[in-house]
Amino acid sequence: MSDYFTIKGLSGKRTLEGTIRVIGAKNAALKAIAASILYKTPLQLTNVPHIEDVSRIIDILTEMGGSAIFSDHSVKIDTSKLTSTVLTPEIAKRLRASIVLTGPILARHGRVQFPHPGGCVIGERPIDLFIEGYGKMGASITHKGKFYDIKAPKGGLRGAEIFFRLASVTGTETFMMAATLAKGTTVIKNAAMEPEIKWLAEMLNASGAHIEGAGTSTITIKGGSALMMPKKHSGTHNPFHIVPDRIEAGSFIILGALAAKRITLTHVVPEHLGSLIEMLKYSGTDISFTKNTITIVAPKKKKELRAVSVRTHEYPGFPTDLQAPLMIYLTQTKGESLVFETIFEGRLNYTESLERMGAHITMMDPHRVLVNGPAKLKGRMLESPDLRAGLAFVIAGAIATGNSEIHNVYNIDRGYECIEERLRSIGLSIVRKHA
Ligand code: EPZ
Repeated sequence: MSDYFTIKGLSGKRTLEGTIRVIGAKNAALKAIAASILYKTPLQLTNVPHIEDVSRIIDILTEMGGSAIFSDHSVKIDTSKLTSTVLTPEIAKRLRASIVLTGPILARHGRVQFPHPGGCVIGERPIDLFIEGYGKMGASITHKGKFYDIKAPKGGLRGAEIFFRLASVTGTETFMMAATLAKGTTVIKNAAMEPEIKWLAEMLNASGAHIEGAGTSTITIKGGSALMMPKKHSGTHNPFHIVPDRIEAGSFIILGALAAKRITLTHVVPEHLGSLIEMLKYSGTDISFTKNTITIVAPKKKKELRAVSVRTHEYPGFPTDLQAPLMIYLTQTKGESLVFETIFEGRLNYTESLERMGAHITMMDPHRVLVNGPAKLKGRMLESPDLRAGLAFVIAGAIATGNSEIHNVYNIDRGYECIEERLRSIGLSIVRKHA
């Protein structure tokens, strides 16, 4: 049984105060760990979050013959001598991100066998773009039901032009990695542009890869041989230090906007949060930032926040991973907001639980809800459906009147390190209980 959190609501008061350090991004760490398969030397990463998903991807690699030493926030991972090319179905099915392992394994070992990563509460998660891309690189694909067996052509994967019908984050990362060891040049068009992709390309380039254009919609990769971690990296910027988690930071900003007297986030890149910051400023939240800190201060006099409509979009648009936390904010703004989730069709189902807390939310269709505010939320017992909605429930519990219980904390632990301790340090009354 998963743990649960009990939270004592602040009844709308803004009392949280202090500093929170933002940790490395889950969605960068998972890809960097997968990238270790491209290396002939061990890969040493720092600022790695201690979260369940990171442990799961390491479990998959150790079962395949790799080794990893985790100490503090560093991981030394050696996957240069994998003994298997099969992703353990039990773990791989539970971790959507396991799909990013397929590119490096196929490119380095010429074959990969894996289960379909499986549906997920946020909606259908197809892998057609991956299968088509491998086909373009010359691979042959067979499958028994939902178990795939992909083989590279003789001489290895071939460079190809890959145009994504939909800009896919893991798709872009997977093909960027596979193409690094392919023969010839690969061009990815309509590539996703998330900061974690640019960061990953910088890490690979510092190790001998030839990737240009990461962070834009066209990425060109010249294939070469296995990568090596340099003994020393040049300059002050360390490309092996995981980029700060903009989704974790964004969630803390939203909590701060609703419940803080004054909080400061450190080790963050404000530039990666442009769309959220613009939206909150427009709505009346007081946010200021330096190069790597963000501060949120409560208004001196009680003032009403303004409703604002949002449509999720690929970076630099508003991230789907912040849609649920922003929903809590919108329950507290005056007027009507439309939330349009354009990326995943099941990612608004959690709003039913917010209605039970007293929020005024009307589902228009699986992609759109209308939120009317401000509403007084009441503490309730809630079940965390996925990690982002789970943290949104923590924010809802924090501003509500009365106590809340958030169950299925495993989902929150998948993506946020020691969240209760970090929130307690700024004054939230939140306790983990063992079910
Ligand atoms: C990544 O998922 C993130 N996961 C997600 O984070 C995030 O929500 C998402 O990008 C969007 O930003 C990781 O990085 C591990 P996509 P990903 O492929 O790559 C469709 C979290 O909470 N599509 O960019 O799987 C897809 O259905 C999460 O940390 C296909 O149709 O998302 C979606 O509509 C969950 N066929 C769209 O593309 C495919 O083969 C974009 O999804 C692949 C995707």
